[in-house]
Amino acid sequence: MCGIVAGVAQRNIVPSLLEGLKRLEYRGYDSCGVAVLQRGEARRVRTLSRVCTLEADARAIDLDGATGIAHTRWATHGMPVIDNAHPIFSGELIAVVHNGIIENHEQLRQSLRAKGYVFTSQTDTEVIAHLVHEHYCGDILTAVHNATRMLQGAYAIAVMCRDEPGRVIGARQGSPLVVGIGKEGVFLASDTFALAGSAERFIYLEEGDLVDIEGKDVKILDKEGQAVTRREIAFVRHASDAELGAYRHFMQKEIFEQPVAVARTIASVTGRETHQAGMPKPEELAEVTNVVMLGCGTSHYAALTACGWFEHFANVAARAEISSEYRYRDYVSPGNTLVVAVSQSGETADTLAALRYTQSMGEQRTLAICNVAASAMVRQCRWSFITEAGPEVGVASTKAFTTQLVALFMLAIQMGKQRGHVSESEAESYMRQLTALPDAMRNVLAREPEIMAWAEALYQSDHALFLGRGTHYPIALEGALKLKEISYIHAEGYPAGELKHGPLALVTDAMPVIVTAPNDALLHKLKSNMEEVRARGGRLFVLADSDTGLTVESGMRLIHMPAWFGALSPVLHVVALQLLAYHVACLRGTDIDKPRNLAKSVTVE
Ligand code: F6R
Repeated sequence: MCGIVAGVAQRNIVPSLLEGLKRLEYRGYDSCGVAVLQRGEARRVRTLSRVCTLEADARAIDLDGATGIAHTRWATHGMPVIDNAHPIFSGELIAVVHNGIIENHEQLRQSLRAKGYVFTSQTDTEVIAHLVHEHYCGDILTAVHNATRMLQGAYAIAVMCRDEPGRVIGARQGSPLVVGIGKEGVFLASDTFALAGSAERFIYLEEGDLVDIEGKDVKILDKEGQAVTRREIAFVRHASDAELGAYRHFMQKEIFEQPVAVARTIASVTGRETHQAGMPKPEELAEVTNVVMLGCGTSHYAALTACGWFEHFANVAARAEISSEYRYRDYVSPGNTLVVAVSQSGETADTLAALRYTQSMGEQRTLAICNVAASAMVRQCRWSFITEAGPEVGVASTKAFTTQLVALFMLAIQMGKQRGHVSESEAESYMRQLTALPDAMRNVLAREPEIMAWAEALYQSDHALFLGRGTHYPIALEGALKLKEISYIHAEGYPAGELKHGPLALVTDAMPVIVTAPNDALLHKLKSNMEEVRARGGRLFVLADSDTGLTVESGMRLIHMPAWFGALSPVLHVVALQLLAYHVACLRGTDIDKPRNLAKSVTVE
C-alpha cells in the first residue's frame, strides 16, 4: 500500500526521504515521488519506476531542500501514470502526499471545478491539494484543518506550502501516521520502519489528529483543533531487521527467523519478563461461550486453524470470518462472544471495519492478536496479544503467521484451563510442547534441500492442488496462497474429503497435488484421498510425519517431516510449504518480496 515520508531537517532532507521510501518499498507500489522547497519554489520528481530511479532523477536535477514530502503510490483512484503519482500539487503553492481513499472526492471535485480549479490527475488526492489551496490565507495549519473537515473517508496526509519553508503539516483519519524525532530533523511517516534510519523517538497520532512540524517544534491538535499531548515512545530497532544479511530475499530470511520469532512469542507470556500487559485475565474470559475471529488472507487462515483448537481444548464454539465479508453481513450474536481481530499489521482496513462493526453491535470483549503494538487494531481493542515476529518486510506473510498460531494456541489452552477442559498437568504438557516447537521448526527448515528438489519438479506447472484435513486444511489453503502470490502459479487448497465432490475432475498427470499428512486421527481417511489421486494418475507430493508409516509408491514423492507434533503440527507443516513456494518462485524468477499487484498492510477497502 501507499507510503508517506515527509519532514523538516536541519540539512538537505532528500537523502532521508529517499531512504525512508526504500524502507517502505516492501509495502508494494507502482509509482513514487519526492518534492522539496528549494530557493522559493516547490520542486518535485516522480517516476513509475523504482525508488533507486527516483534517487538518480533527484540527483540529476540537484533536488536539495530542508523541507520535503515523499510517497510510494499503490494505485486506487486512477492508473499508475506519472500525472497520478504523488506529490500532487495545487498550482505552485501547495504539495500533498496522501494514503487512503476520499469517499466524497467526486462531489468535492465538482465544487472545486466550479470555482475554477483545473484537475491534472485522476486522483482523489488532488481534491485535497486544491481544498487546502482554497482555504489558504497565509497559515498552512489552518488551511489543512479547514480542508480536512470537508473530507469523508480515510486519509493520512503530509502537506507543505511554497510560502512556508521549514513547515510540514500532517493529518490522519483512518490511515496510520507517525511523527519521528531525530537528531537531524522531525519527520512524518506511515510507519516507524520508514524512519528507522532518521528518528529515535516516535509519536503515534490518534484518529483525527493534526500535526504541525515547524523546524524542530512539534505541535499536535485533536480534531476539534485543541492542542493535545500524545505519548512519545523511544524506539530500539535491531539493525538486522532491515537488512538481508546472507539471505537472497526477505521472505527467505523471515522463514528462517521463525524459530526465534516463535520462541520470543512464547517467552512473552511464559518468560521471566512477560510483556503482554494487554492480555485478558483468565477470569475475564470466564463467561465467553463463543469466539469469532476476524482476519484477511493469511491471518484468516491462522484463525481458521485455531477454530479446531478452541473447539478441542476449550469446548467453545469458534468461527473464523473473512473480514471483508463479515463487515457487511447481518449481525447475529449468540451473546458472550469474544471477538478476536487477527492481523500482522493491525491496520488492515477490512479487519478494522469488521471489528468496529462488532463493537457497534455491542460487543465489548475484543482482543487484537497483532504484530504491531501501536497499531490501530491494538488501540481499538480492549485486550491485545502482541506477537513477537519482529518487522515483516516480505509481502508474503510467514513469521507473522506462525507467531499468530502460537498466540491463538496459548489463548485456546488458557480458555480450556479456565473452563475446566484442560487440567493443570495437561496445560503444563502443552506448554512443554510449545517450548520444543522452535527446535522442531529448525528440523523442518533442515529439509530445505529436499523441498528444493520438489520445487524443481513443480516450477513449470500451471496449476497445483493442496490437500489437508482437520487443522491441516487451513494449512493447505495457506500453502496454496503462498504459492500463487509469489510464483503466480494457479493453486487451490481443499479439504481432502472434498476432492470427490468436484476438484477430482482436475486431476491428471499434469496436476501436482501437494498433501500435508500429519500422523493424526484422520490419517487413514487422508490415505484414501491420496489413493483417489493416484488412481487418476495425479502427481502426489506428500509431506508426511515420520511416524505415519507412509512410504514412497509410484506416482508419489515423499518428504518425511519430524514425528507427529500433536496439535501444533500445523505450525511445522506450514514452514515446509512456505519454503516450497519460495523455491518455486526463485526458479520462476519472480519478484518474491514484492509480488505483482500486491501490497503489505492493506489500508484501503
Ligand atoms: C499473504 C498476506 C496477506 C495478509 C492479509 C492480512 O501472504 O500477507 O494475505 O495476511 O493482507 O494482513 P494483516 O495480517 O496485516 O491484517
